[in-house]
Amino acid sequence: MKDLTPARDTLDPIEIASIDEIRALQFDRLKWSLSHAYNNVPLYKDRFDQAGVHPDDFKSLADLAKFPFTYKDDLRQNYPFGMFAVPRDQIARVHASSGTTGKPTVVGYTKADIDNWADLMARSLRASGVRPGDSVHNAYGYGLFTGGLGAHYGIERLGATCIPVSGGMTPRQVTLIQDFKPKAIMVTPSYMLNILEEFHKQGIDPRSSSLETAIFGAEPWTNAMRQEIEQAFDMHAVDIYGLSEIMGPGVANECVETKDGLHIWEDHFYPEIINPETGEPVQDGEMGELVFTTLTKEGLPMIRYRTRDLTRLLPGTARSMRRMEKVTGRSDDMIILRGVNVFPTQIEEQVLATQGLATYFQIELVNSGKMDHMRVHVEMNPDQDADDTRAVAAATLQKRIKDIVGVTTEVVMNELGQVARSEGKAKRVVDNRPH
Ligand code: DLL
Repeated sequence: MKDLTPARDTLDPIEIASIDEIRALQFDRLKWSLSHAYNNVPLYKDRFDQAGVHPDDFKSLADLAKFPFTYKDDLRQNYPFGMFAVPRDQIARVHASSGTTGKPTVVGYTKADIDNWADLMARSLRASGVRPGDSVHNAYGYGLFTGGLGAHYGIERLGATCIPVSGGMTPRQVTLIQDFKPKAIMVTPSYMLNILEEFHKQGIDPRSSSLETAIFGAEPWTNAMRQEIEQAFDMHAVDIYGLSEIMGPGVANECVETKDGLHIWEDHFYPEIINPETGEPVQDGEMGELVFTTLTKEGLPMIRYRTRDLTRLLPGTARSMRRMEKVTGRSDDMIILRGVNVFPTQIEEQVLATQGLATYFQIELVNSGKMDHMRVHVEMNPDQDADDTRAVAAATLQKRIKDIVGVTTEVVMNELGQVARSEGKAKRVVDNRPH
């Protein structure tokens, strides 16, 4: 793999500013953001008033903890535009999350918001090893999802060439990579596995492709998966994090030279980690739920938004800004099986560690009698698919999950190609329990 470390003089000065400078900027911007939300969004005014706090009470960064939280449900209750802080004619674009249950959550951006987003995505791309003039294959979905267009504007802002492929039509993805020879790809890690399979189907060695770096996000993925894909393509794989409510992709990004967690772009987003049960902030370094306050968003300011993503804050390394550890799960994805908490990423690690198994898996929850029960659907690598290797792989995986994760599962060996493939965010858990 090539060394893709960006030259220091190409970074935004704030990325490597002193902590004092960053905290001072955050303080000023937080003050603005709290007032902007309070003065322009009825929900914030009501909620601050009820909690007996006013933006004037914000006198140091620690005072932020006095302000109330905001939840995804607040956006749903105020569907579609009730939490926008500017008149409708100043909204340049809207996006929305699919919303698996009920109404989608709608987010809005002013021209200045879109501009900041493009800057932060360009910064994220640079951190991932992309340079002006490089070509980037963008396989994040275009449309209401923030992935496609968010990445697109950042690629253009950096001065790179955008190949706006969007998701789906996997054979064509491979053709375009072979013909256009992009240096970078932006895609969900689970869809990258699908693209990898297609390389093999077409008889092309993925290591011979032009790709040097991949920017993976929109879903949890493990370091085991990173190794698997880096090996398969002989390229870097870096993590990008974001969520629509806060902006979209580019809230935090790993640096290709360190790959040690994601630097949060703290000049635009203020992170906190809280104990999800009590709501109390915890110290940097402790695990908990990630909470964000936007510092510059005009269209949809978010004050102490509960992401439900579980991680911890770590000091800066390649940049001054703090890092968040790779998000290995959302509290919503946590499966509780007879008292043991299980995240799909823990199963991913064990599938990848089991000799002979393909990288695809899906968890099915069923209820047999009174007990909840977990089935892990897997399949073999095509070149290792023999009856005896199947039996060994299934038994090995079951034992690994029992020994390391601590739950008893049923491993279901599927025929080749039968485990659902992803074209965007993978659906890791299918809940077939009676409700
Ligand atoms: O997934 C934005 C995005 C697009 C990020 C492309 C990165 C790349 P939403 O659809 O609103 O936005 O989903 C946000 O996805 O709260 C996390 O639970 C999860 N997520 C996003 N990035 C990561 C990541 C986009 N790198 C939700 N690791 C977030 C783990 C991630 N989970």
